[in-house]
Amino acid sequence: MASTFQLSFSFLIFLLFSLWIVEAHTSRKLISIQEQEDQDISHLLKDGEFEDPSLYMYFKLKDLKLGTRLPIFFCHNDLQKLPPLLTRKEADLIPFSKSKLDFLLNHFSITKDSPQGKAIKETLGHCDAKAVQGEHKFCGTSLESMIDLVKKAMGYNVDLKVMTTKVIVPPQNTISYALHNYTFVEAPKELFGIKMLACHRMPYPYAVYYCHGHKVGSRVFEINLVTDDGKQRVMAIAVCHMDTSTWNPDHVAFKVLKMEPRSAPVCHFFPLDNIVWVTK
Ligand SMILES: *[C@@H]1O[C@H](CO)[C@@H](O)[C@H](O)[C@H]1NC(C)=O
Repeated sequence: MASTFQLSFSFLIFLLFSLWIVEAHTSRKLISIQEQEDQDISHLLKDGEFEDPSLYMYFKLKDLKLGTRLPIFFCHNDLQKLPPLLTRKEADLIPFSKSKLDFLLNHFSITKDSPQGKAIKETLGHCDAKAVQGEHKFCGTSLESMIDLVKKAMGYNVDLKVMTTKVIVPPQNTISYALHNYTFVEAPKELFGIKMLACHRMPYPYAVYYCHGHKVGSRVFEINLVTDDGKQRVMAIAVCHMDTSTWNPDHVAFKVLKMEPRSAPVCHFFPLDNIVWVTK
């Protein structure tokens, strides 16, 4: 097992540090972009604004330039409420499949119709579902299994790097997670010739990472953002999906961006809780 790991000690330290940052700013929003479908935009809006602020994360390819100003919401999770991270050994002792739902609900003493029960069922459903063609998709129930699955997807001989969207404030200030207008204060920096997978936590009694990424047709960018008052900087990671022709025409992104479904690329920022794996 350890031989498949091939991770240097410093890389592990870096990873743990990155994960600590991710945990420290992790997002409430755990639903995958791909799965927010079949929503009518009128349900999303209240007084002309999106009721769910986490929808303020999409943008168009033409926005990718110095000086763009957009309302963006980088949400986070309450640290106290985050479920525990299990070791692989612990996680492997617990079944992880929708077919074992009744056993699991009983095991965690959660009733089927409670919000937690529904979330468990949904998470298992997402994790059991097969990847669509051209996409990597899997769930890791521990950090070790996530890393192994990422390596399996991206190649055992590649150098992996972890990236996250980070909020940076001056020492005397606290981070404000509200919806802000942000300006692109530098030209977005494209990461060329890389492969990318994004992992984020799912609602579950312990930490479960859902990882997915398109095998081709994505462009990844680092974007330096600043709030109007200049007090909060965000080093954001964003992805542009260049080919949306096979997407569900009801995908929420088309509605948020008010564009003809499947007609143009769709870009989005990664929330703070996402672990973005890229090949160097
Ligand atoms: C962003 O700026 C626009 C005007 O350019 C303003 O109408 C809007 O309320 C601002 N949003 C936030 C969250 O400050």
